[in-house]
Amino acid sequence: MGVKLVHITKVFPDPHHPGKEVVAVRNVSIDVKEGEFVTFLGPSGCGKTTTLRIISGFEYPTEGEVWISGKMVNNDPPNKRDTSMVFQSYAIFPHLSVAQNIGFGLELKGLPKERIRAETERIMAVMNLTNLANRRPDQLSGGQQQRVALARAIVNKPSVLLFDEPLSNLDAKLREQMRLEIRRIQKTFGITSIYVTHDQVEAMTVSDRIVVMNEGNIMQIGTPFEIYSRPLNRFVADFIGRVNFFEGTVTEVKGQGVRVRFNHGVDREVASCSIAFKPGDKALVVVRPESLKLVSPSSSTGNGISQNASVYSHPANGQPFLEGKIDKVVYLGSVCEYEIDGGREKPVLAVTHNPIEEGFFQPGDLVGIDFSPISAHALPLSS
Ligand SMILES: Nc1ncnc2c1ncn2[C@@H]1O[C@H](COP(=O)(O)OP(=O)(O)OP(=O)(O)O)[C@@H](O)[C@H]1O
Ligand SMILES: [Mg+2]
Repeated sequence: MGVKLVHITKVFPDPHHPGKEVVAVRNVSIDVKEGEFVTFLGPSGCGKTTTLRIISGFEYPTEGEVWISGKMVNNDPPNKRDTSMVFQSYAIFPHLSVAQNIGFGLELKGLPKERIRAETERIMAVMNLTNLANRRPDQLSGGQQQRVALARAIVNKPSVLLFDEPLSNLDAKLREQMRLEIRRIQKTFGITSIYVTHDQVEAMTVSDRIVVMNEGNIMQIGTPFEIYSRPLNRFVADFIGRVNFFEGTVTEVKGQGVRVRFNHGVDREVASCSIAFKPGDKALVVVRPESLKLVSPSSSTGNGISQNASVYSHPANGQPFLEGKIDKVVYLGSVCEYEIDGGREKPVLAVTHNPIEEGFFQPGDLVGIDFSPISAHALPLSS
């Protein structure tokens, strides 16, 4: 049954300007299916926590309806909603052991001792906490504490798990492990989960679907693939990952794609579009850095090849999409990142893989830049 938000709006009185208002969440609707993992992603202040608090009942919507497991819960307080929340600060009790922390909620429910022990042991086994059962929180690492907090939320078997930036206190490596852990646990128990983060890699790793928010509005709801490769608008394209934008005019519609005459006079096909374009429409074409192919202009002659530069791919038809000069090179071992001066306002960003085999360019090298239709996506210019 999952969670359904129907036209949720939340308006706060502005604490600094009496009489004025802050619209924290604006007309948000989403249907989270049972067992689904959905993440709210967006910049600071976009309304993620407010949305989560409205689902949990810590905040009431100004307008709209909240449905949990098929029941309208607008007027139910948090303890009457079948949800559990995992916070950024773990909020586990310092004076209780790991096992006692996990069993606490079951005790409140008045379950028999034997049952509490059995349930607690089962969860600890799944969460790899059995060896730590008798430790107190101050004898645990940050990641272990977070696992205890998660176990405590899950042991009550809520219909819905809510997470508000649960990993932001952990170091990068631990965060990576815990993401996978959260996903594994969520799949094991099949609990509908709603997760809030401003970390896009985190969102991509754990989610079935991502809700991108900005200034209280939903900008797109989609799978990680759709959000990254088929963004609906400029905001989503720009917020998720790194991106190149190229402007042009649609000259022809071809199935799902279009042919575009770019502003610098070159024509290319673009395989997907966020709207139904017509010839003459202005388009903003999105190409991710790893989808740009770099080619050394001297390579066709067979001599004068820059020492480390090799051919990544030949452009479709002799003339590359754009020519430029390598400005900055960041060698990261597995990949090489480039900023290329293509005579445009912003540098063109490109990433190539496996530099040890493919070779890499040096600052000052001239390169041709191209892309294939499948990796390009067109948005309306005004999106
Ligand atoms: N109680 C409140 N009174 C007034 N304004 C509030 C209140 N709570 C939140 N806001 C405002 O609502 C907007 C959304 O806040 P919210 O906490 O939902 O953002 P967020 O997306 O969770 O941001 P962050 O990533 O920084 O946690 C912000 O402009 C915030 O200042
Ligand atoms: Mg927040």
